[in-house]
Parts: sequence; structure tokens; C-alpha cells
Amino acid sequence: MNNIAIFASGNGSNFQSIVDAYKNKKLKLDKIILITNKKNCYAIQRAYENNIKNYTFVLKDYNSKEEYELDIVRTLVKEDIKWIFLAGYMMMITDVLLKKYDKKIINIHPSLLPSFKGKDAIKEALDNKVYLSGLTIHYVNHEMDAGEIIFQKQVRVYKTDNVEKLTKRIQKQEHKYYWQIIDKIIKGG
Ligand code: GAR
Repeated sequence: MNNIAIFASGNGSNFQSIVDAYKNKKLKLDKIILITNKKNCYAIQRAYENNIKNYTFVLKDYNSKEEYELDIVRTLVKEDIKWIFLAGYMMMITDVLLKKYDKKIINIHPSLLPSFKGKDAIKEALDNKVYLSGLTIHYVNHEMDAGEIIFQKQVRVYKTDNVEKLTKRIQKQEHKYYWQIIDKIIKGG
């Protein structure tokens, strides 16, 4: 069964692009579910609008990160989820999920890794005055934004760019490529 979970924490525009490809039958999956760690994030609204089952887990409701991830794993197992794709999920994945989903967790990041890891990748690219940035899709491991790289796409940075403009251009490419890479991974795996 090609059942996937998308993990998101915010706007969910990448989640939306994956759902669109699934609904247009370009991306052949048996099921998508959404997992979020924020109660009111816009990704949840998108899930409702698109009839996608969604679950929210809030870390502070648990005694430890381990218990938090164990609860997520229980839901993923119940939903028969085979792959996890992080799409703006702003939390480190730890051992519980990594062991259960070995080589099955993938992330998208808005820089050409290994440059500009972390949550401010676009601002850091601008601060460092690089003329090329882009996006990276990679396997998730114990270290932040450091797992094996699957795909990268360059995006030009212009002198007139600010965070908003560069985010928009990088995300346009994320929305174009993430579902295509998901398709390849699923077919190959
Ligand atoms: C995306 O641009 C993604 O690359 C980035 O968060 C954004 C989420 O946007 N991820 C990271 O920075 C991970 N370190 P979205 O919620 O609209 O898909």
C-alpha cells in the first residue's frame, strides 16, 4: 500500500502541492494523511478543504519527546503509513520515528545543503550574499538537515531579493518538484 504521511507545522503550501498532484492522479498513492504539531496551522485548514484525514500532536501535552513520537507512531501504524514526507515540519525527528521508519523519512529544505541548515535558510542565504541558492530533498537522520541528498534544484538569487521574494521563487520550485520526487521514491522503494 502506498500510504504516505505529510508532516507540517505551518502554511502547508508543499502539502497542498502534493495533495493537488494526488487529486489530479499525477501522483499515484493509496492514501495521504496530514500530521501537524500546531493546533491552528493553515495546513489543517487545507486538509479539511481537501478531505484529507489529519492528526495534531502537541509536544507540551506529553511528558517527553519520546512519548510524543510514540503516539505519532501508533497513529502511523494504525493508518498503515509506509512513508513520511516532512514539508515545513519545524521539529527534529528523533530515535522513535527514525527506528520505526528507517530510510523512509524524507525532508525538503530551502537551500542547497550543506549550506544554510536550520530554520532561517533563506535569510542566511541573503545575509551571505550568495548568488545561487535553491532547494534540497534528503533523507532524514539524527543530525539536522544532514541526511543523504536525493535531489537538489538551484534557484538564482538577485541583488533586489528579500526574504519574501526569494521564498516565493524557491517555493515555486518546491511545489514543482517535491511530488515528482515522492513519485520516484515510492516507485523505487
Ligand atoms: C518550505 O519552504 C520548506 O522548504 C521549509 O519550510 C517551508 C514550509 O512551507 N522547510 C524548512 O525550512 C525545514 N528546515 P509550507 O508550509 O508552505 O510548505
